[in-house]
Amino acid sequence: MTALLDTHTPVVVLQTHEEKRVLALAEAVARRTQRALWVWSASRGLRALHGVKLRLVDHGADGHPGAGDTKELPAALAAVERLEGPALVLLLDIHPYLNHPVTVRALKDQALKCETGGVQLAFVGHAVTVPDELVPWCSRFDLEPMTPERVRAVLKEEITRQRGRAGQDVAGCQRTLESLQRHLAGLPEAAVRHLARLALGDGQITTADLARVLEAKQAQMGAAELLVFEQNLPDMASVAGMKALKRWLLLRREPFLDPVAAGGLPPPKGMLLLGVQGAGKSLAAKATAAAWQLPLFRMDFGALLDKWQGESERKLREALRMAEAMQPCVLWMDEIEKGLSGGGAGEGDGTGATRRMLGTLLTWMAERRGRVFLVATANDIESLPPELVRKGRFDEIFFVDLPDEATRAELMRIHLGRLKIGFDDTALASLVVASVGFSGAEVEAAAVAARYEAHALAKAADAGLVLAELARTKPLSVTRAEAIDALRAWAADRAVPAG
Ligand SMILES: Nc1ncnc2c1ncn2[C@@H]1O[C@H](COP(=O)(O)OP(=O)(O)O)[C@@H](O)[C@H]1O
Ligand SMILES: [Mg+2]
Repeated sequence: MTALLDTHTPVVVLQTHEEKRVLALAEAVARRTQRALWVWSASRGLRALHGVKLRLVDHGADGHPGAGDTKELPAALAAVERLEGPALVLLLDIHPYLNHPVTVRALKDQALKCETGGVQLAFVGHAVTVPDELVPWCSRFDLEPMTPERVRAVLKEEITRQRGRAGQDVAGCQRTLESLQRHLAGLPEAAVRHLARLALGDGQITTADLARVLEAKQAQMGAAELLVFEQNLPDMASVAGMKALKRWLLLRREPFLDPVAAGGLPPPKGMLLLGVQGAGKSLAAKATAAAWQLPLFRMDFGALLDKWQGESERKLREALRMAEAMQPCVLWMDEIEKGLSGGGAGEGDGTGATRRMLGTLLTWMAERRGRVFLVATANDIESLPPELVRKGRFDEIFFVDLPDEATRAELMRIHLGRLKIGFDDTALASLVVASVGFSGAEVEAAAVAARYEAHALAKAADAGLVLAELARTKPLSVTRAEAIDALRAWAADRAVPAG
């Protein structure tokens, strides 16, 4: 805002409920730019602002009328016209007067004179609509982000506008519209209008519009370098197994998205998925956001540690604040142990920076009020800081084990289906038996390898080729049997099975 008041825009529109804050800011700006500061309101007329106190101008002093004579806006504007710049004039709650042609003309005259006269006007109010005649001289500045109620009103207006223009209703499901509404809240009005118009311009509201809104929001916040906005999320149906986890999430969807409708149940705050590599933890994290129709932001620990060496803790705080600004959303910390154990890159020495980061994260987890659902995943308990898994940090800690028989059948259906590899029930039974000890990622890899094999042999891929691939592979459960046993033993009394 200070930048705007500094520039010589003839009229600055400051939309806000916080008049006091505006006065304080304007005062600082006026002092810095060595301008006089005048404030007009209908109740008190035009007064000079000195220090924090408003001083009544003596009647007739400096050739100006007294404050009492300038309660009417035309008289005040006449007085402003006689001001010898440079000055900044705040007009409080001027919006009802902006319907008067004569007033608008007087304001326009003043705006035209700004360059030579050095008098800058600022309209201050909670709902200022600038008349068309003045638009070329105005710059808007919203001090506060829009509330959901105001976003709803703007969207309604824009939808009506679009309907009038196109002569037909805007298409799209109610749910998408609601998500759009949720995510537009928190942005300043100018951005809300711009994005709403972009979204509605083609006559339909789609998920692509949502993605665009989120991108804009993220850019607006300057968060891109810390939080990676993940798109094209897999849906829950593409995750095999994890029945208990899926049910847990299903029960918490409404309390998270709409705590009021859920009878005031406290919204869930987060979960930790712990388990064997390749078991689908990252996949499930992404599918969670898809199932809840929320944006997913991945915390980039690598960048935090490498790119922001020396300031990673501060940057982490910033990233967490950004995530809160994006709420409701899912914040995903993939392989959290790597980001916090300091075994890896940069300054992470396991004592200094990463300890501080862990402290910051734990404090945030304990104190936050916002609706950011944290999903952390971890493969390695050895380097997982014990404080992080203490009771109460996460709503739940899930252990994702290697797939059981039923889950392997599901995996075959999902992946062979996706890769168009045909199979019948008998083949499925053999595949399930042959894949004991294989993770989801390994099953997928075998299916992909079968496709290559088939291509080389110039034949259609079939279950036989997948079986051959499975037979050729030694899964991690064999090569890393001990580590997996240790993981299971650790999880036995600390986590609940995901499936
Ligand atoms: N339970 C599962 N259901 C479906 N696909 C799976 C499953 N587990 C693993 N996969 C496949 O393996 C890939 C890698 O799994 P990933 O989620 O990265 O495992 P993790 O994060 O546990 O190491 C997934 O993208 C998916 O294609
Ligand atoms: Mg992973």
